Amino acid sequence: MSTARHEGRLFMEGCALDAIAARFGTPLYVYSQASIEEAWRAYDAAFANHEHLICYAVKANGSLAILQLLASLGSGFDIVSGGELARVLAAGGDPEKVVFSGVGKREAEIEQAIKAGILAFNIESEAELERLNAVACRLGTQAPISLRVNPDVDARTHPYISTGLKENKFGIDIHRAESVYQQAASLSGIRVTGLDFHIGSQLTELEPLADALTRSLELVDRLEAAGINLAHLDIGGGLGIRYDNEQPPTPAALAKRLEPLLKGRPQRLLMEPGRALVGEAGVLLTQVEYLKPGHRNFAVVDAAMTDLIRPALYDAWQRIETLTPVDAEPRVYDVVGPVCESADVLGRERSLALAADSLLAIFDAGAYGFSMSSQYNARPRPAEVLIDGEQAHLIRERETLSDLWRGEHLLDRQ
Ligand code: LLP
Repeated sequence: MSTARHEGRLFMEGCALDAIAARFGTPLYVYSQASIEEAWRAYDAAFANHEHLICYAVKANGSLAILQLLASLGSGFDIVSGGELARVLAAGGDPEKVVFSGVGKREAEIEQAIKAGILAFNIESEAELERLNAVACRLGTQAPISLRVNPDVDARTHPYISTGLKENKFGIDIHRAESVYQQAASLSGIRVTGLDFHIGSQLTELEPLADALTRSLELVDRLEAAGINLAHLDIGGGLGIRYDNEQPPTPAALAKRLEPLLKGRPQRLLMEPGRALVGEAGVLLTQVEYLKPGHRNFAVVDAAMTDLIRPALYDAWQRIETLTPVDAEPRVYDVVGPVCESADVLGRERSLALAADSLLAIFDAGAYGFSMSSQYNARPRPAEVLIDGEQAHLIRERETLSDLWRGEHLLDRQ
């Protein structure tokens, strides 16, 4: 929990969020440094009994200052593109702590990652394995790999963010993985180092993860019998956070559940949490532009699906509250943005006491908020601020209008 109320005003660490909104404008992303550090350390401490490396999933929030903060704690990174690799390096991340996931790695991205000297490529198909081998051979080196197996377990989360079932595009069918490992071991440009899975996101139960690990360890045993020894096991990301009434397991509970399975295993444990490290650390601040009473009462605010797409895309629920008490009768509002789409809703049927210029916080917006933002409707993306005690650091400037057409060219017409 990164926020608290004092005399009705909502604070993040030592900063009143209404004052932060007045200083930097809205819409605005605000993150708590202490909350990110605490979440990372909770993961790290939970797995203290087993050699491990936390590889933060950059896609959750790839802002440079956040990557820099995590790198300074000793974090590794899970990337899914050459762009994310470049971000990690620009933020001072250690390439030897980077794993590269994703089903569609391009040749140039593969070359970039080999040259950077990353820890492992998480291989998602035989075609990718062959491409990686060819690039590594051309560069006269060996590329370290894990196979991302698809363990065919139901993560029991939203279908859009469930990834470990046979019908999903991700990973290599665990029943075929042994022969793909044999093939990988025979390729001169490939060094087999690990095994990887990732079964989904916003997981609220441990058993699917424990099942996936159990199935993977059976494969590890079969590989050992065939003379293929692995140096690491990567269990992916996925622990959920509390948006509403969910009761997601803590990292400590995860470690406790997995430890008996891992006991005596020499492999280093890798994990790729994203949401669980930054989700609860962030809020999106927005101001009411208009109240529009009627058949449904709408509060039209200055943030939109372009800034936070989760409610529109997944029907996700995120808590919304005013930053300071407002002297008005509470009403049930649909909180909507200005974008010309009926899906541009940030929260439906919220009981709120609002005036025409009220400031609101949308909670738990630190993960998959800014990183999924767009400029649709020619909306400059919001600024981002990192709070450290009583200090507020502007870590990303609000986009300007000319940013909207950066790189565009008019036709040469006289
Ligand atoms: N590793 C891999 C290979 C992944 O695909 C993902 C997320 C993660 C790690 C991090 O998962 P996390 O710990 O954050 O659950 N945009 C959606 C979530 C998509 C997750 C995609 N993969 C949302 O806003 O709910």
